[in-house]
Amino acid sequence: MLRLDNKIAFITGIGSVGEGWGNGRATATLFARQGAVVFGTDINPAAADTTAATIAAEGGVCAVQRCDGTDSDAVAEAVKACLARFGRIDILVNNVGGSAPGDPVSMDEAVWDMQMDLNLKTVFLTCKHILPVMQAQGAGVVVNVASVAGIRDQLGRDYIAYAASKAGVIRMSKAIAMSNAKKGIRCNTVVPGLMHTPLVEARLVRQIGGNDAEKLIAERNARVPLGKMGDAWDVAHAVLFLASDEAKYITATEIVVDGGVTAARP
Ligand SMILES: NC(=O)c1ccc[n+]([C@@H]2O[C@H](COP(=O)([O-])OP(=O)(O)OC[C@H]3O[C@@H](n4cnc5c(N)ncnc54)[C@H](O)[C@@H]3O)[C@@H](O)[C@H]2O)c1
Repeated sequence: MLRLDNKIAFITGIGSVGEGWGNGRATATLFARQGAVVFGTDINPAAADTTAATIAAEGGVCAVQRCDGTDSDAVAEAVKACLARFGRIDILVNNVGGSAPGDPVSMDEAVWDMQMDLNLKTVFLTCKHILPVMQAQGAGVVVNVASVAGIRDQLGRDYIAYAASKAGVIRMSKAIAMSNAKKGIRCNTVVPGLMHTPLVEARLVRQIGGNDAEKLIAERNARVPLGKMGDAWDVAHAVLFLASDEAKYITATEIVVDGGVTAARP
């Protein structure tokens, strides 16, 4: 079940902002465990190398390329390198992304632009360079990682650019799915809710948690109907399912991985 043997998976953001399991790191590791050959990119090569070392230690294959996903030339180079080494791209996972707080009044225009680039343009650029490869193959799967911020309010917090860009990811996935449905390519989105990844301690505690990790974690856990935040493996398993042949009839839709958060507060 859910095997990816001999599939070549191009995954963006396979590092993590801190020690432990970010969504990209868990996804890359899970894919390798399921038999995929991983070509992972990250703007932080040291973080990506940690992931690759874990995969190699388990007997898997993971090539790493430093790549700023907002830079079209760098993405084109990474795609070229993946094809030179492995000859095809069966699966694309767009995991790069991140949030910056603010509403239209408080947010600098520069931050807005950076958020759009990080969350939306990164998806556009990999699709720009990889969809032609998949179209030539007559087969391929794209899984994009959005956020519940793209489908519901942020519980009193303002993340205007994150919400807009992640909503854009969900909508763009459907459009890509539709224009590629007759070309053997599926495209879907995983929509994580409140996840306990290294991001919480590394960034959110400072950004919105008043430097009190314990309080922020308790607060986030309390908001989830299932009683606690999810983790990177919850996201990775949903990505794996959508990328697998078991999901061969699923396209242009989302899996929400949020412990019930959106149902409780749509
Ligand atoms: N952690 C959560 O609670 C949560 C919730 C909902 C959605 N998400 C989404 O999941 C995805 C991954 O989140 P995470 O928590 O694992 O994040 P993370 O910050 O730990 O990992 C992201 C990785 O992407 C890399 N990266 C950042 N900018 C890049 C760029 N321009 N080009 C290439 N690589 C870049 C970072 O170096 C890092 O290794 C993001 O799209 C995020 O929006 C996370």
